[in-house]
Amino acid sequence: MLEHRRILLVIGGGIAAFKALDLIRRLRERGARVTPVLTGAAEEFVTPLSVSALAGTRVFRDLFDLTDEAEMGHIELSRSADLIVVAPATADLMAKMAHGHADDLASTLLLATDTPVLIAPAMNVRMWQHPATQRNLDVLRGDGVTLAGPAEGDMACGEYGPGRMSEPAEIVEAVRARLSRGPLAGRRVLVTSGPTHEPIDPVRYIANRSSGVQGSAIARALTALGAQVVFITGPATAPAPAGTEVIAVETAREMMAAVEAALPADAAVFAAAVADWHVSGTAERKIKKGSGGIGALDFAENPDILATVAGMGAQRPALVVGFAAETDDVIANATAKRARKGCDWILANDVSAATGIMGGTENDIILITGSGTEDWPRMSKDEVAARLAGRIAETLG
Ligand code: CTP
Repeated sequence: MLEHRRILLVIGGGIAAFKALDLIRRLRERGARVTPVLTGAAEEFVTPLSVSALAGTRVFRDLFDLTDEAEMGHIELSRSADLIVVAPATADLMAKMAHGHADDLASTLLLATDTPVLIAPAMNVRMWQHPATQRNLDVLRGDGVTLAGPAEGDMACGEYGPGRMSEPAEIVEAVRARLSRGPLAGRRVLVTSGPTHEPIDPVRYIANRSSGVQGSAIARALTALGAQVVFITGPATAPAPAGTEVIAVETAREMMAAVEAALPADAAVFAAAVADWHVSGTAERKIKKGSGGIGALDFAENPDILATVAGMGAQRPALVVGFAAETDDVIANATAKRARKGCDWILANDVSAATGIMGGTENDIILITGSGTEDWPRMSKDEVAARLAGRIAETLG
């Protein structure tokens, strides 16, 4: 599936560099030709010899290596690939890329190139969350750089959170999507998914039964058609889809901010089951039994993410798709919801307990568009996703 595709793999200096070896192996197994570039720091983690042995080719290391320059100048090297993959992309490499530094071979190649770039960030959670890294990330996104991950999980440094490099299989999936010639190639699509958690105090929250299965399936189906998917998810139980940029949030307000930051996009699918309300004045300490009980909670309305995006001017994606989770009068309620929210399509489903849809593996959809309703047969959530992705591809043209 990657036959004859040329990948320039920049390996940054982080503990995740060891995963780059497996990445090379997997890319080559799928037919890609991998040209590796090691930063000086990467050589502290993997040896040029092992990288070269796996890639089946020489490794490029130093900007001022005259033999390299005679064989292939760094400008040519940077442009002779179909895709540049930076894995691991350390905080330092991302900062260099965002600021246009060119003080070693890797950063120079990245500055000299006109080839698409995909990065797989890997760093400590605090470094990832630092405003400086997030600023750099915004700049890189604006420059058209695609992300794979990062994932959330245990880190080599003993901490837990986002910043861990995606697994090689997921990066391969992102490479495949980026190089895809599918009908959604070059299209950026945003997908929200999962429930939101609205805190009451530091240990309790209000949630809903959404599993995130339908949202994940939609993101996978869009990726399979070549879209570059930004997947913004609440705390779901379904695994995040491989090959997408995953942004994990907890509350509706965080989801709203993440969606706004991820725009512009060609299309947006709002599959998340967003809480309509949050507890105002969340307690900073755990509410104790002895302190007069939990009493009445005050609620404040959450932003309606779908309606906000559908009502945007220039930033509005060309196609805005929402879901309508209903328990009665499905068509009437969902039709009214489409008009109220100003979106283009609504996928209405009956989430009454008896249908087994919420948290289940199947869905029963009525698609409501400007030109009427379409009753889809009951099918698996994967099939719903494939059908929806196909319709999105047809519509975006
Ligand atoms: N939605 C959203 N932000 C919210 C609430 C809902 O983006 N604060 C989106 C959902 O992702 C979904 C659509 O709006 O695509 C409809 O969600 P649903 O829960 O069915 O509707 P509500 O707006 O919550 O309306 P109601 O509770 O009255 O049915």
